[in-house]
Amino acid sequence: MRQIRELTSADNEALITIMADAYPGMNIVTEADRVRFLQRSEQIVADTAVTNWGLFDDDVLLGLMRLFDFTMTLHETAVFVGGVGSVAVGLAHKKQKVARDMIQFFLRHYRERGAALVALYPFRPDFYRQMGFGYGTKMNQYRVKPASLPHSGMDDVVFLTGGDRAVVESCYDRYAAQTHGMFVRHDYTWDAVFSDSAMRKVGVKQNGRIEGYILFTFQPGKAGHFLSNDLLVRELVYETPEALAQLLTFLHRQADQIGRVVFQNQDDSFHYLLHDPRLDDELMLRPTLYHETNVQGLGLMYRVVDVPRLFGQLADHDFGGQTCRLKLTLHDSFLPENAGEWVIGFENGRARLLTQNDYDAAIELDVAEFSSLIMGTADFRQLIAYRLAAVSDTAVVETVTRLFRSWRKPVCLTNF
Ligand SMILES: CC(C)(COP(=O)(O)OP(=O)(O)OC[C@H]1O[C@@H](n2cnc3c(N)ncnc32)[C@H](O)[C@@H]1OP(=O)(O)O)[C@@H](O)C(=O)NCCC(=O)NCCS
Repeated sequence: MRQIRELTSADNEALITIMADAYPGMNIVTEADRVRFLQRSEQIVADTAVTNWGLFDDDVLLGLMRLFDFTMTLHETAVFVGGVGSVAVGLAHKKQKVARDMIQFFLRHYRERGAALVALYPFRPDFYRQMGFGYGTKMNQYRVKPASLPHSGMDDVVFLTGGDRAVVESCYDRYAAQTHGMFVRHDYTWDAVFSDSAMRKVGVKQNGRIEGYILFTFQPGKAGHFLSNDLLVRELVYETPEALAQLLTFLHRQADQIGRVVFQNQDDSFHYLLHDPRLDDELMLRPTLYHETNVQGLGLMYRVVDVPRLFGQLADHDFGGQTCRLKLTLHDSFLPENAGEWVIGFENGRARLLTQNDYDAAIELDVAEFSSLIMGTADFRQLIAYRLAAVSDTAVVETVTRLFRSWRKPVCLTNF
């Protein structure tokens, strides 16, 4: 009989064996590796917001996952969101629907605890889309010559030490509270940032306050010799144009030492900043005259697990200033209790669920696309074009598109 329960230290040996096999890239081979892994794992789950869970069959651990309690800024409101990571199934138990059972447990666990949304980083986007997770914002990677970055002054740029941790955290917290998609950061992540000597930390400090900062590491450059180095920006947070300008000036001035500054961000307008936005001098998108500027990847995925609660959480959100009554039919084969029909009344952009059954327009779609729509990463008009959503009357496509169009796509700087 299958049972899913929280893991205790008595399960450590079985946990390490499954993790070592599921993630060979983690290099958990020797006894010393196992001890190091366990120490890090125990440090993380010491945070009460993080728990390890396992699926057992007759007391044998077949698979495990780590659950995270997050607070996320959903448009303008802080909401409780569940996260899952480290999903791993024993080599001998693949394709026995262990992952399916664990993910269903994860969804119900957070639904019961009051979340309307959950999130995860997929090892394969299609695997989780089938389970109802919708695509989040794409990540862009720009590889920029330092000289391409704007430069002005950098009078307030300082290297940050452990003594600055509280003011750096405050800067992150203010930015997270203002930015759709951002997660409140757990302490263990800051512990890792400030104990990692390879992670350089530079901030703009004015009157004791951090207005913006970058975390960066060096990585070998293309030429492959010790003088050839790139600079990988691991995190860039800024609250003012002035702070960003100073941080970019700091990076600009590394031109003699650094081949490329590598940015990974969810900012689709980043190329406006660059003197030369081309990714490489020669790469063109043939046969057109378009210059390659960046590469993109899909990562974080979101999933709605409770529709009425979601609209309750979004009571203060402005759905495009629209006024209409919309019938929503949601399909959810993976979490059937989340499927259903609702009539939502929008008045000057404010939404509330209605009990009456008359409406102006009806839409029908799967929870994966609905989740992307709610997060502001999908465009309703395109979902119709791709036949990923249906609408009662094509005349209302523009209205529905405006309802869900977000002026800002979600940004997330939390890995889990
Ligand atoms: C990836 C991994 C977790 C998959 O585990 P698994 O237990 O073999 O996967 P499952 O057997 O549960 O497969 C998922 C099932 O959910 C089912 N499923 C998906 N969506 C469904 C839906 N909407 N309704 C019903 N069933 C659904 C699928 O059909 C699939 O079953 P099938 O293979 O019989 O079609 C496992 O291979 C692993 O540990 N890999 C290494 C580590 C890793 O990459 N982890 C992922 C981190 S995100």
